[in-house]
Amino acid sequence: MANFQVAIDGPAGSGKSTISKLIADRLQMIHIDTGAMYRAVTLLAIEKKINLHDENAYQFLESVNISYRDNKIYIDDRDVTEEIRSKEVTNNVSLVSSFPYVRNQLVEIQKKAAENGRIIMDGRDIGTVVLPNADVKIFLTANVEERAKRRQKEKMLKGQHIQLEKLVEEITIRDIKDSTRKESPLKKAKDAIEIDTTNLTVDETVDKIIGLIISAKGV
Ligand code: DC
Repeated sequence: MANFQVAIDGPAGSGKSTISKLIADRLQMIHIDTGAMYRAVTLLAIEKKINLHDENAYQFLESVNISYRDNKIYIDDRDVTEEIRSKEVTNNVSLVSSFPYVRNQLVEIQKKAAENGRIIMDGRDIGTVVLPNADVKIFLTANVEERAKRRQKEKMLKGQHIQLEKLVEEITIRDIKDSTRKESPLKKAKDAIEIDTTNLTVDETVDKIIGLIISAKGV
């Protein structure tokens, strides 16, 4: 089948990755979670003990290969899917992803990965920067309490209990950092369709987006 690109952007906890993955399974598309890539760079930077505030210290990216394949994120051949969800990575990823050097490196990989095939890519700047000509652009939102509840549930399934207020605070801080940074801030593309998922189930959101993909002749 011909190439087809779907861009899904939105704030932390809006359900981008869960929903993109389900759509990819149903429509046999390739899913790329770009947030996982920024997290992988953050993990590596922490492990290398570089000064996280020094943009020049990220030159190590020249000699590593970050890739997202089959729902897993790799640094070279090392699977870091679990490690990138740590608190330390989460708390530093907004800083790391604010550097133009880091963004340029990852955007190049992302553009290349989307060149061939049927791709659904989720992140913050996919509709605006990475895939400005995507066939379908979605901007997912949900109020912060709902997003915090979803995160709490996810953590609970992994046996961790985190207070809701703590998660609301964490997500609010990340929202502010992601949407006010100078380089490619989180922003709805002019031609993106906004879907507020606060009162929608995952299935309802998936069906809605699949409907839009069908209308755009992506199925
Ligand atoms: O989707 P996520 O929460 O796993 O993303 C982690 C961080 O990466 C997020 O706080 C901002 C950054 N990010 C970005 O700047 N651009 C993207 N395309 C995806 C994520």
